[in-house]
Amino acid sequence: MTPDIKPLVAGNWKMNGVQSCLAELNAMSTGFTKELQSKIDLLICLPATLISLGTAETKQSALKIGAQDCHFNVNGAHTGDISTQMITDIGATSVLVGHSERRTDHGESDAIVLAKANAAIASGLMTVVCIGETEVERKSGDTLKVLETQLAGSLPDEYSSNIVIAYEPVWAIGTGLIPKVSDVEEAHGFIRSEMIKRYGENGKTIRLLYGGSVKPANAKELMSIENVDGALVGGASLKAADFLGICEAYL
Ligand code: PGA
Repeated sequence: MTPDIKPLVAGNWKMNGVQSCLAELNAMSTGFTKELQSKIDLLICLPATLISLGTAETKQSALKIGAQDCHFNVNGAHTGDISTQMITDIGATSVLVGHSERRTDHGESDAIVLAKANAAIASGLMTVVCIGETEVERKSGDTLKVLETQLAGSLPDEYSSNIVIAYEPVWAIGTGLIPKVSDVEEAHGFIRSEMIKRYGENGKTIRLLYGGSVKPANAKELMSIENVDGALVGGASLKAADFLGICEAYL
């Protein structure tokens, strides 16, 4: 945690969820009690097909809805892509960019992630820029170098209060493996210092999320690490009981 930063717990449903799953979303918004609302912000990044329905479902709730990716152009001949304008148009307030699955499955470079981040910030979306090392990079001792390169290449030049960073070791995503507390502390401390180098005093206010196999059972330990200002959660964000169980780490 960082004093003075309100943590963010963000879920990422990835390519999971059909209309019947909105019942889980409903349970999450109901379970996001006033007490929890006073401690954390809560976000679910839905598949594009569910965003409209999801924003309608959570209209009365403090739970926010986000998208999982965006194109960097406002519109045009980009079959299958969605723009930040389309995302805001249907009521989403946030977007992930540079998730490792996008970087790997779609060959997204830091330059593409940066273009997306700039488009998202320009549209007023809270923009979660994801970074993280692979297993090979961790084993060869290159973690901080990789993070430094990704941060340098993927982040807008100008500070915005809508920038959020998610540190997600690729080898911890969906595997049940999590880094040692000291490794998370080192990575987040490094990211914080890079943010201050880049954005000055404002760098102290940027939320740094940890992601990769966060579960109710490990959330308290992970979320209490210095400079960990919330979580990006995949698998455990699909069920309200698990997701709210993670949020309870903050009670
Ligand atoms: P996981 O995914 O929680 O299923 O490991 C995290 C992520 O990809 O954001």
